[in-house]
Amino acid sequence: MAEQYKAGYPLAPTNGYARSDQEAARANSDERRQKQKKWALYIIAFVIFQIGIIVLFTFTVMKFRTPKFRVRPASSFDTFDVQPTTPSFNMRMNAQLGVRNTNFGPFKYGNTTITFYYKGTEVGSATIRKSKANFRSTKKVNVPVDLVMPTTLASSADLISDLSSGILPLTSQSKLNGKVEIMFIFKKKRTANMNCTIEINISTKLLQNVKCK
Ligand SMILES: *[C@@H]1O[C@H](CO)[C@@H](O)[C@H](O)[C@H]1NC(C)=O
Ligand SMILES: *[C@@H]1O[C@H](CO)[C@@H](O)[C@H](O)[C@H]1NC(C)=O
Ligand SMILES: *[C@@H]1O[C@H](CO)[C@@H](O)[C@H](O)[C@H]1NC(C)=O
Repeated sequence: MAEQYKAGYPLAPTNGYARSDQEAARANSDERRQKQKKWALYIIAFVIFQIGIIVLFTFTVMKFRTPKFRVRPASSFDTFDVQPTTPSFNMRMNAQLGVRNTNFGPFKYGNTTITFYYKGTEVGSATIRKSKANFRSTKKVNVPVDLVMPTTLASSADLISDLSSGILPLTSQSKLNGKVEIMFIFKKKRTANMNCTIEINISTKLLQNVKCK
């Protein structure tokens, strides 16, 4: 009666009732062990699931991305005076800028300036007031900028040839220093750099080929 010894009743009577009691007990403990195994598996599965969620969370929600700062082609002009042969230009642009924030939380930035250049020579600048780009959205900022030819370009052959071809090519640079805030408590500093090349189409008075890095 090896089973009896194993079951811990070496002296148990061998009548039918006793045996069936023991068998029932053994079946019970088997069942309990099966249940425990099942629970252990459930707990392991749950822990793996939780780790998966945490990893997913870390790489999506908790990921701090650097916002993108660019000039939008939708910018327009209030005044527009271009003399290709003199050469000269003097215009007021309503620059429309975009701060694209793909974070799961707002990007708050401080005051800054945006500067426009013609082949490295500054031709205009404007101040951008501090503000914020909300949770996964693009904040549009409109700033008026006077783009005026500096006297140093008065006899620029490059400028004469560009204006005659119908395009004023400019670059714009700026930097937004700010903070990304996720779930109100996790904060990280991020700087959105702008470095765009734009073409002002002189006949349509519109921006074209806006490219930002
Ligand atoms: C931001 O600019 C506004 C107006 O241009 C000014 O009143 C404010 O003090 C500036 N804030 C900072 C932090 O420089
Ligand atoms: C200016 O825009 C017009 C209309 O889109 C286009 O036909 C023309 O080629 C543009 N000029 C230049 C120099 O790209
Ligand atoms: C902007 O881009 C130009 C062209 O690629 C590059 O020469 C210049 O160094 C960049 N400027 C900044 C401030 O990143």
